[in-house]
Amino acid sequence: MKQDYENTNPKPLAPGHHPGPLPTDVREPGVWDDTPEAINRRKFLTQLSIALGGLTGVALVVPVAAFIVAPLFKETPIVWRAVGDLNKFKVGETVQVSFDDSSPVPWAGITAKTAAWLRRTGDSSFICFAVNCSHLGCPVTWLPGARLFMCPCHGGVYYEDGKVAAGPPPHSLFTYDTRVNNGQVEVRATGVPIPT
Ligand code: FES
Repeated sequence: MKQDYENTNPKPLAPGHHPGPLPTDVREPGVWDDTPEAINRRKFLTQLSIALGGLTGVALVVPVAAFIVAPLFKETPIVWRAVGDLNKFKVGETVQVSFDDSSPVPWAGITAKTAAWLRRTGDSSFICFAVNCSHLGCPVTWLPGARLFMCPCHGGVYYEDGKVAAGPPPHSLFTYDTRVNNGQVEVRATGVPIPT
């Protein structure tokens, strides 16, 4: 049919001149349909696709962005966590204790636990070091024989008072406040110290 149409219109077109819509009887549906209604329909569908694409993008991006940004605006609560009976700790001994972090979420499970190194320094005085290395946060180990804290990741070493002895750590081990309350040793839990 298209061939017949062309044969019946042999006149060459002037430059820039559009032949106009084909007669309905020779149109290939969906290809040649350039009536104003079809053009409007196509425009509408294009705009609808763009709008739906935009909405999908927003629906995907907003929750992810909120998840990343929300902690920056949320104040971490500070709470005291009991880590054991006072009599359980010997003066001068450094032991590992664990406690729930200050803002565990219901589904956190074991990941809500934070570890620390606790040393009794007197009748009711303690010092508590974060287990996280001040370099990149790896857990440090206490070596009682050498009286040093060692980090297995990049060889960071700390003296028994938490000060840096060697390696890449930029500063001393973070410490938590402690207190004795009703015969229980308590550690003031804060957010996990993030190395800076
Ligand atoms: S994380 Fe401890 S030395 Fe790098």
